[in-house]
Amino acid sequence: DDQKADYKARIKALLKARDAVLVAHYYTDPEIQALAEETGGCVSDSLEMARFGKEHPAKTLIVAGVKFMGETAKILSPEKTVLMPTLEATCSLDLGCPAEEFSAFCDAHPDHTVVVYANTSAAVKARADWVVTSSIALEIVEHLDSEGKKILWAPDKHLGGYINKKTGADMLLWQSACIVHDEFKTRALKDMKALYPDAAVLVHPESPASIVEMADAVGSTSQLIKAAQTLPNKRLIVATDRGIFYKMQQLCPDKEFVEAPTAGDGATCRSCAHCPWMAMNGLKAIYESLSAEQLQPHEIHVDPALADKAMVPLNRMLDFAA
Ligand code: 13P
Ligand code: SF4
Repeated sequence: DDQKADYKARIKALLKARDAVLVAHYYTDPEIQALAEETGGCVSDSLEMARFGKEHPAKTLIVAGVKFMGETAKILSPEKTVLMPTLEATCSLDLGCPAEEFSAFCDAHPDHTVVVYANTSAAVKARADWVVTSSIALEIVEHLDSEGKKILWAPDKHLGGYINKKTGADMLLWQSACIVHDEFKTRALKDMKALYPDAAVLVHPESPASIVEMADAVGSTSQLIKAAQTLPNKRLIVATDRGIFYKMQQLCPDKEFVEAPTAGDGATCRSCAHCPWMAMNGLKAIYESLSAEQLQPHEIHVDPALADKAMVPLNRMLDFAA
């Protein structure tokens, strides 16, 4: 509508005026992903968001996603201004892994290599030997296992359990979960598969093991998008945030995408197939963060001492993935 078009036009002008670029995750609303595409920004998974932000020459990054993505951008580019539509957009995995408790867990297992998921605070990353995202976690753990390393993994128990099963590595797992992926229901997915016997099932590995077991493809958001393109099936059942349908449908206009079942809908369940924190990234909030005289309510700051430490395992991941 008119108001949206108005916000978009203003955002485009502000991006130019501020020498800023929009870096968006696949789970944000379709209009934000489209805007990032139109303005030469990026829409991608958390690994590519990190790389794009680091390598892009713009002075300012506006990160549409959740807080750990903004912090990662700032850690990798301390000289850039990093803005977010709202600093309230967190992640249940980040919340489920407080730095002090995590540090005590590491202290209790000094002989373990510490591998943390990108969905964590800067303070938790600062304590890690490696940061991983779901795109590269399996390869990095395989590599560490081949060197005979014992691994302390945090925070996602489902992703950790999946990697543990795949690699057979010696892993100690922190026990947090993503509130969105934890909601996919096994029995209902079985029923849906029976209803659509021709469909392939795509699953993000933050989902419970019983859901992963039913998958034809398991992977990060970008890997699931690739699977949607390469699998021959015309119908795909997707167990991840529904924001991903924008890119899947754009790349596969002739295919049909069906949301994997959760117990409720948007009205009864705050986190059913859509992350409530990703949903905070509206056009209005992006406009406000770019137009604000005072950047404080939108600007990401990371304690420089923590950032210096967290940069090491983050760059280790980017170098490994290169
Ligand atoms: P990806 O790295 O697969 O984009 O996942 C990020 C995330 O938060 C998934 O819930
Ligand atoms: Fe965190 Fe889950 Fe939201 Fe991803 S979908 S940002 S893991 S709460």
